[in-house]
Amino acid sequence: MAQTQTEATAGPAPSGAPGAFSLRRLSEIGGVEITGIDLSLPLSARTKDAIYAAFLEHFILVFPGQDLDPAAQEAFSRQFGDLEGNVRRLVPGVLAPLVNLVTNVDDNGNPTETPPTHGNYFWHTDKSYRPAPSLATILHAKLVPSSGGDTQFANTGMAYDALPEATKQRIATLKVVHSWEASRRNTGNVPATAEEIADSPPVTHPLVRTHPDTGRKVLYMGTHTSHIEGMDYEEGRALLRELLEFAEQPQFVFTHQWRPGDVVMWDNRTLLHRAVRNYDMKLEKRLLHRTVVKGTKPV
Ligand code: OGA
Ligand code: MN
Repeated sequence: MAQTQTEATAGPAPSGAPGAFSLRRLSEIGGVEITGIDLSLPLSARTKDAIYAAFLEHFILVFPGQDLDPAAQEAFSRQFGDLEGNVRRLVPGVLAPLVNLVTNVDDNGNPTETPPTHGNYFWHTDKSYRPAPSLATILHAKLVPSSGGDTQFANTGMAYDALPEATKQRIATLKVVHSWEASRRNTGNVPATAEEIADSPPVTHPLVRTHPDTGRKVLYMGTHTSHIEGMDYEEGRALLRELLEFAEQPQFVFTHQWRPGDVVMWDNRTLLHRAVRNYDMKLEKRLLHRTVVKGTKPV
C-alpha cells in the first residue's frame, strides 16, 4: 500500500479556506485521504478544481474529521454539479432537501437487519437504471458501528484493462439493459410496483463505457442489470455474472472502514460499490448522510 505524502497546492485561499491540502494514497486501486481542508467552507475555484482532479485520478476521496450539517453537505456537493433529488428517506426537519439518509435505523429509531437501503449491499453503480446515472455519490458518516459497516469499491477500469484480449473483443459493442424491476429481483427485495416500473422503465447502456472525463474504458454493470440486448437472456446473465465476478476480485477492490466525520466522495462512472454486512445490524446503528451529483448518459 502506497503511503506517500503529496502536497497539492490548490491556489490562493478564499476567506477561511486553506489553499493547500495533503493527499495520502490508500490503495493500489484508488482512494486517497485528503486532509487540511474544511469542507464546510466555500471552496475557491482552484481548490475545487484540484479536488476534482484528485477525484479523476484516485476515484475515491476520503476527507476525515469533517462536520457538515445537511445544508453544508448540500452546498459542498453542489460545487460539483446539479444534485439528484430523492423522495425517499430525506433527513427530517432540515432545509436541505437533496440530502437523504443511508441507514439501518428504522422509523422508530431501532437498528434493523432489513433496512430500506438493502439493495446497497449488492455491487452496483448508482442509478444505472436511469438514462443519465449518477456521477458522484458523497456520504458523510454520522453514526458508525463499533466495527465493520464498511463500504467496498471495485475499480472497473482496472478490471477492464485486465480482461483477456478475446473477452475485450467479445464484449466491445454489447449493450446492457438495466432496470429498477431487475434490480429489485436481483437483490431479493419486494418486487417493484407498477408505478415504480412506469417511473423507471428499462434503459440500455454500453457494457464497455468510456469515462466522459478521462476517456478510459470501464465495465459498466452491477445489480441493476437485467440482460444483454440481442443475446439469449440466460447467456447474457451468465456473461454479466462472469464479468462481475472478475471485477470483484480482491486486486480490484478497496474497502473503506468508516470513522464518524468521514466524508467519502466516489466516481460512479468507474467504480462499483456495496455496503458490507460485517456488523451486528440488529444491535448497532449506522447512519450516513448522502448527496448525489447528476451524471450524463453513458457512451
Ligand atoms: C449509496 C450506497 C453504500 C453504503 O449510498 O449509494 O450504496 O456503504 N451506500 O452505505
Ligand atoms: Mn449506491
